[in-house]
Amino acid sequence: MNWYSDERVRSVRMLTRLMTARGSRSALHLCNLVASVHFSGLPTITLTEMRARLGRGTPGAAPGNVVLHGELHGFGAGSIGEMAGLSSLVAAHQPRNLLEFGTCQGCSTWHLWANSPKDARITTVDLPSGLTVEGSTDPELQGDKVRRFLPEDPRVRLVETDSRSFDPSFLGSVDFCFIDAGHSYACVKNDTEKALSVLVRGGLLVWHDATWTDDDYGVNRYLKELRGQGMDIRQLTLGPFDYCALAVLVRA
Ligand SMILES: C[S@@+](CC[C@H](N)C(=O)[O-])C[C@H]1O[C@@H](n2cnc3c(N)ncnc32)[C@H](O)[C@@H]1O
Repeated sequence: MNWYSDERVRSVRMLTRLMTARGSRSALHLCNLVASVHFSGLPTITLTEMRARLGRGTPGAAPGNVVLHGELHGFGAGSIGEMAGLSSLVAAHQPRNLLEFGTCQGCSTWHLWANSPKDARITTVDLPSGLTVEGSTDPELQGDKVRRFLPEDPRVRLVETDSRSFDPSFLGSVDFCFIDAGHSYACVKNDTEKALSVLVRGGLLVWHDATWTDDDYGVNRYLKELRGQGMDIRQLTLGPFDYCALAVLVRA
């Protein structure tokens, strides 16, 4: 048996152990999440490369410090690696007018707020508390009533509406946008088109859940279509052991 097949057999044994272990539903889900990242069909860019691009092409030029909330992530907020990656991009880009689709409990909003300049404004859009809607995804996350991470700061504006009825034109020029609301094809297309209608050249657009294709998620399909139209969208990679399904675009 050569090294490669030996290694393969060991991996399959390990996966089988994981999937048959107690709590196997979450182990299986974790395996599927990791697989979706590895086989997403999107080209990748490392966080280091991305930060260098944001720091005007010079590696190490972007500010090095990143602020993380003590709880590291919240309900519906994805992985700790993704929160750290998002924070690092904001810290490197230093945007002044930020737009977010998908507030939930406000965990990602907190990280946008904590890592942007002290005069930055953040607008975050979510369904009104208690409301669930047709044509979106994750009904268990919709219309959260407790936005416990949301910073109490006049610079942070919460707009409670269905993003399909949201008109962003009052915001002026936005230089950072994070999309993590409804993950159906129609919702992500709506949110992306609205983000692009206000995003300046050189502005940064970040999508969450760019690789998952079950549960009616249409982000991956939509991003591939945009790539087909010439947009250089990349999947962000962190360290070799960190799960990250963020995708990024610097507006040309
Ligand atoms: C995955 S959670 C967002 C998590 C959040 N970004 C974080 O990191 O803490 C998705 C959110 O999108 C909201 N949402 C779903 N469909 C929506 C729609 N059509 N318009 C506005 N918000 C929507 C849900 O209410 C939910 O709070």
